[in-house]
Amino acid sequence: MGRRVLITGGAGFIGSHVAQAFVAAGDDVTVLDNLSTGKRDQIPREAAFHHLDITSPDAARLVRDGRFDVICHLAAQIDVRKSVADPAADAQLNIGGSLNLLEAVRASGNGTRPQTRFVFSSTGGAVYGDLVEPPTSETSPKDPQSPYGTAKLSVEYYMGYFARVHGLDTVALRYSNVYGPRQDPHGEAGVVAIFCDRLIDGAPLTVFGDGKQTRDYVYAGDVARANVLAASATLPPASALDSRAFNVGTSIETNVVELAATLKQLSGGSSPVQHAPARPGEQLRSAIAFDKAARILGWRPAVALGDGLRHTYDWFKQRRAEARS
Ligand SMILES: NC(=O)c1ccc[n+]([C@@H]2O[C@H](COP(=O)([O-])OP(=O)(O)OC[C@H]3O[C@@H](n4cnc5c(N)ncnc54)[C@H](O)[C@@H]3O)[C@@H](O)[C@H]2O)c1
Repeated sequence: MGRRVLITGGAGFIGSHVAQAFVAAGDDVTVLDNLSTGKRDQIPREAAFHHLDITSPDAARLVRDGRFDVICHLAAQIDVRKSVADPAADAQLNIGGSLNLLEAVRASGNGTRPQTRFVFSSTGGAVYGDLVEPPTSETSPKDPQSPYGTAKLSVEYYMGYFARVHGLDTVALRYSNVYGPRQDPHGEAGVVAIFCDRLIDGAPLTVFGDGKQTRDYVYAGDVARANVLAASATLPPASALDSRAFNVGTSIETNVVELAATLKQLSGGSSPVQHAPARPGEQLRSAIAFDKAARILGWRPAVALGDGLRHTYDWFKQRRAEARS
């Protein structure tokens, strides 16, 4: 029989791909989500669903009593701008909610069953800052520029504490910029989703500043596979912050102008590219090295950017056609 796997945020963009990947691996999947940005129809049919908030006592009870072998924790407030506008609300959810779950895992450890592995979705795009030349490795200096990045890094520090002092089995996956089907095109993040949506309408693609800022785009299906591998990999001891942290990215930098041009070409769309003033404080370059994930998790990105973009665009187009019919 498969493992018992809990996925928080499993109704969301990345979480739904993670849920699907565990279902495909034959595991017994449960999703916990408050549907604030996630959608119920994105949860795989095979999964059980609990409509709960990660900060609630009920969520803690589910974790404590659920006898899960693996918990993939993706539920979060993901909007960097919202974290800037209200750092306390961001921390309450992204730090407080994570602590609620970690405390519940600790409370569930009574020695009568194997340990729960806790796999946390962290960020490789928001913890390193602009200090070092990309591609950044896990041990590079940390310099989060936003409350969102600070909260993600804080949870990693807390996981180190729970691992060393209480023996919890924790791992952090630091994703670069994730793209793919089901990403929300209406948020601030997710330039691929936004561009796909606008290309379908023939609306202009807005590029901030000169568009030379780079990001590392990783396909959602590849990120889901990293979660499945992290769930069962043999890991080093959690002796320091970065010991059990893994970058999940491609090491490849792509700038926004290149991204817009590639999407325009593969979609055959006629959207003009327009430039808007640079956004203050925006990171200039970002790409993360995946050597450690390759060595220890056996993970490397499998979907090339051109293929992933085509697949994503086709998905958006198909969804639009379905909505019309
Ligand atoms: N999208 C990216 O490029 C990226 C990059 C690095 C890290 N991440 C991390 O990956 C995770 C998933 O992000 P995503 O892009 O799929 O975002 P998303 O908004 O699509 O998914 C988040 C999910 O969490 C749920 N959720 C939010 N608050 C909750 C709460 N209080 N209780 C229960 N459920 C709640 C939402 O309903 C949603 O289903 C997040 O932890 C995010 O920080 C994303």
